[in-house]
Amino acid sequence: MAMTVLRLGHRPFRDKRISTHCGLVARAFGASELLYSGEKDSSLEDSINSVSREWGGSFHVRYVRKWKDIIKEFPGKSVHLTMYGLPLQTRIREIRKHQDILVIIGGEKVPSEVYSLSDYNIAVTNQPHSEVAALAVFLHEYFESRELSFDFPEAKKRVIPRERGKLLEEDAEHSP
Ligand SMILES: C[S@@+](CC[C@H](N)C(=O)[O-])C[C@H]1O[C@@H](n2cnc3c(N)ncnc32)[C@H](O)[C@@H]1O
Repeated sequence: MAMTVLRLGHRPFRDKRISTHCGLVARAFGASELLYSGEKDSSLEDSINSVSREWGGSFHVRYVRKWKDIIKEFPGKSVHLTMYGLPLQTRIREIRKHQDILVIIGGEKVPSEVYSLSDYNIAVTNQPHSEVAALAVFLHEYFESRELSFDFPEAKKRVIPRERGKLLEEDAEHSP
């Protein structure tokens, strides 16, 4: 099973924070990889990779120049999240039948070809909001809440959940 996220049109100056959030949400909610197009941004890659190193799992981030080829050659189903698409709740059962998913999220302006290249154009409500929110809700619906308890092996840090205050286990995998 592969859940890959393709974030289109990253601009280092304007989008660093939101693209970082796309990567962190993708990782935390069960995706295995973030691909991004637009301009290559090593600091975006470094910040997501450093979270992965500290908090475990095998999530990685990769710049792609030919994003159209990524969609065309993806060996599963591509799902473009857009406010103009069909309601998520009417298609999610069908999408869940597929194991390999490429979730496509846009930035400020999405090239029109994305709509025709994608297998599904899916709306998380038909209201305008954010790629971060759309991605989180899509992954939550796809995994049916199982992502809330996914494991992140080889973590150096792990939160010990508690009702109040903060408790962190450092070097988590190596603790007795
Ligand atoms: C700030 S929005 C830009 C929307 C822009 N008007 C467009 O589609 O060209 C950035 C991204 O957030 C996601 N998004 C925003 N609202 C959404 C919604 N209601 N459903 C699904 N995705 C949404 C889409 O992936 C979109 O490309």
